[in-house]
Amino acid sequence: MIDFTNRKNRFLNLIDVPKTYIENIKEKTKSDAYYPTYHVAPHHGLLNDPNGLSFYKGEHHIFYQWFPLGPVHGLKHWYHVSTKDFVHYCDHGIAMYPDQTYDSYGCYSGSSLEVEGELFLFYTGNRKSEKGGFNQSQCLAKMDSSNLVKKIGVIVDRDETVFTENFRDPVVFQRTNHSFLLVGGETIDNQGALALYKGETFYDLSYQGNIDIGINDFGHMWECPNYYEQGKNGVLILSPQGISSFSKYDLKNVFSVVYFVGEKIDVENNMFKNDGFIELDKGFDFYAPQTYEDEKGRRILIGWLGNSKSEYPTDKNGWAHMLTIPRELKIKDNVLFQEPVIELKDLRASSHNFEREIRLISGSFELECEIQDEFGITLQNDEGANITFSSNGEEYCLDRSNMSELYAERFGTERYAIRKIKEKHNVKIFVDQSSMEIFCDNGETVFTTRFFIKDLSHLTAYGVKGKLHYLSSLQVTSTR
Ligand code: FRU
Repeated sequence: MIDFTNRKNRFLNLIDVPKTYIENIKEKTKSDAYYPTYHVAPHHGLLNDPNGLSFYKGEHHIFYQWFPLGPVHGLKHWYHVSTKDFVHYCDHGIAMYPDQTYDSYGCYSGSSLEVEGELFLFYTGNRKSEKGGFNQSQCLAKMDSSNLVKKIGVIVDRDETVFTENFRDPVVFQRTNHSFLLVGGETIDNQGALALYKGETFYDLSYQGNIDIGINDFGHMWECPNYYEQGKNGVLILSPQGISSFSKYDLKNVFSVVYFVGEKIDVENNMFKNDGFIELDKGFDFYAPQTYEDEKGRRILIGWLGNSKSEYPTDKNGWAHMLTIPRELKIKDNVLFQEPVIELKDLRASSHNFEREIRLISGSFELECEIQDEFGITLQNDEGANITFSSNGEEYCLDRSNMSELYAERFGTERYAIRKIKEKHNVKIFVDQSSMEIFCDNGETVFTTRFFIKDLSHLTAYGVKGKLHYLSSLQVTSTR
C-alpha cells in the first residue's frame, strides 16, 4: 500500500496510481472477514460522512465522502448510490471528482435540495490557499433525473475577518421567497459557529451573521450541521469538535454528535431558541449524520459509522468505515427517537429464538430482545474474546475491552448511558460482522460501534428473551 505517513501521498489522485494498485486493494477489501454485508461501505479506500441525502425521483440518494487509495483522509470525492427499498441498491460510482480549481484539494461534505426538478448539491470546495494552508468555499452542483452531475461553481466565499480556514459543510432550507444556507465553522477566536446566508435564490446569498444557539464555549469547530423544520420545531444536529464532560455518561466519543430541538430559526435575529443539547449517540463510532425527508414524510438519518481519530485493525486491508443503517427519526417532547427503517425487515432470512446461548452461523444479524432490569448480551468467539452490552437496571454499559483485536483504546473501552426505561422493554441490535447498532429506551438511547472479534462463534445472554434474525446481503447493481 502507498505510504500515507508521507502526507503528500494523501493528495494522490486516482489517475496517479496503476490499475493494478486499485485491483489489489479492492481484492483485499472484498476478502476481509470484517467487511459488512448489509451496510453501505467503500469498495476500497476510506468512506466518511454521508452527503447530499435526499429522496429524489422516486429513490433515496446517498452520497458519501470517499478517498479511493487507502484507509486515510486524503483527496475526497463524492461517491453515489441510490435505493428504492434499502435492500436493492444501484451503484453510480463517483459523482464528483476534485477536478476544479476551487475543489482541487477535495470535494468536502454537504447536503442537497430539490429545486425545480433538479437536485442541487451543496458542498465545500477545499483548495490550497495562496497564504499557505487551505481555503474552503461553498459550492453548487446539480444533478438531473438521469443522475448526471454538473458543477456550477462557488456560491459562498469565506469572510476571512470572521472565520479561520475551517468553514464548511453547507446545509440549506427555503422559506417563502428566500433561500438560506448554513455553514459550520471556526471563528478567528477559535469558537465553533454556524454562519447564516440568505438570498432570493442560491446564487445571491449574503452573510447575515452567526446564529445564536444559546450556549457559549461549545467547542472550537462545528462540523456537519444538519437543520430541518418539522411542524412547529426546528431541529439542529451538530458535530462539534472540542466539547467534553466530566460525567462518565456524556460526550465520551472521539467527537460527539449533539442535537437541539427548539423553535424554527429566527432568521431576522439570527436566533435559534431551543431546549439545550442532547447527545445523539453514546458510542463509540458515530459522526457527521445527516437527515432528509422521504416521500412518505419520514425523516431519515444516516451517519458515518466511524470516527476520524481511531485506527482500525482492517486498515491494513486498504479500506475503512461504513455508513450506519438508515434510521427513522421521530420527535417526542423535544427529544429525538431513532428506529431502524422498517424496510430492513425485508433483509431477514431466517429467525431463531434464544434465551441463554445461540451458536452463530453468520455475523450479520438483527436481535429483537425483551430485556429485564438486569441483563447482558455477549458476542464472543470460542476463546472467550467478546463484546458485551449489559445493564444493572440503572445504566447501560457497552464494554469492548475484551475483543480479540483491540483498537483505539486511548479513547476508552467502555461507554455508559443512564437508562431511561428501567423496567423490561424491547431493544433492537443490528450486528454486521464488525459493527453493532443498539437501540434502547424505544430509540432514545443509541450506541453505534465497531468491534473486532476473530471468528465470532456464539452469543450468550442473561435477563433476555430474544429473537435472532439472520440478515441477507444488500443486492447491488452497477451503472458505473
Ligand atoms: C467531517 C469532515 C467534514 C469535512 C469532511 C472532509 O468528518 O471533517 O467537516 O467536510 O469530513 O472529508
